[in-house]
Amino acid sequence: MDLEKILEVTGLSVSFNGKPVLSDISFTVYNEKITVILGGSGSGKTTILKHILGLYPVEPGKISLLGRDIATLDEDEQKRLYLKMGVFYQKGGLLSSLTVGENVALPLEQHTNLPDEIIKEIALQKLSLVNLKDTYHMYPSQLSGGMLKRAALARAIVMDPQMLFCDEPGSGLDPVSLASLDKLITDLKEQLQMSVVMVTHEVSSILRIADRIIFLEDQKVIFEGTISDALASDKESIINFFNKSKGH
Ligand SMILES: Nc1ncnc2c1ncn2[C@@H]1O[C@H](COP(=O)(O)OP(=O)(O)OP(=O)(O)O)[C@@H](O)[C@H]1O
Ligand SMILES: [Mg+2]
Repeated sequence: MDLEKILEVTGLSVSFNGKPVLSDISFTVYNEKITVILGGSGSGKTTILKHILGLYPVEPGKISLLGRDIATLDEDEQKRLYLKMGVFYQKGGLLSSLTVGENVALPLEQHTNLPDEIIKEIALQKLSLVNLKDTYHMYPSQLSGGMLKRAALARAIVMDPQMLFCDEPGSGLDPVSLASLDKLITDLKEQLQMSVVMVTHEVSSILRIADRIIFLEDQKVIFEGTISDALASDKESIINFFNKSKGH
């Protein structure tokens, strides 16, 4: 089967204050797949996402997103490209002074000229996709941890992004809530025909949702491929990573 490349990172190196974090890494993300980036704490996972999202200059290296080299885009092109990307950050990040509905509607308020009724309707529709349609008028402080994650997810998909980036979306959730968040992400990916790039440590999540994995260690990508190839790998760190969960 021919897979369509939608993101290519080539020869990216990153150092902070002279300390190398990523050394000459390359990997590819394919359309309509869930790709999980794995690696220990501090291995550079969030750093990779920030480079893809244009928050840091790519130097040296090249990142091609939906076929565009992100370093060559002018401000306007960059803005248009990133409107096709939904982002779900490590800490959720809803604004506490706005209702859940207003939080979800915010990207539409900021980036479209749609009339208020339509914006409200889209926000409600996205909230119902994450099973939260009754929380439109509630404040984030009135939601449980799992509900907050789902609300943040509704906000990340409110612009119908082509790609969704998630940084540790399940952190802090109990196993049942985590499993339902995973199912939600998988269902949304199918419904909205998105590609998902996710950073997570949770082996149970990876086994449930990953189509492909990218494994970071010692500043390098030590494995890139399908989840079944990863499970069949004879690399010690990959075997250890997947065995780690069996005792729990
Ligand atoms: N802006 C920055 N300035 C200096 N150092 C940074 C900066 N951002 C990240 N780092 C360093 O780069 C390394 C990788 O950080 P990063 O946040 O990418 O790790 P991570 O793999 O996401 O870890 P975790 O799983 O704990 O979230 C760490 O040593 C971190 O201290
Ligand atoms: Mg991180």
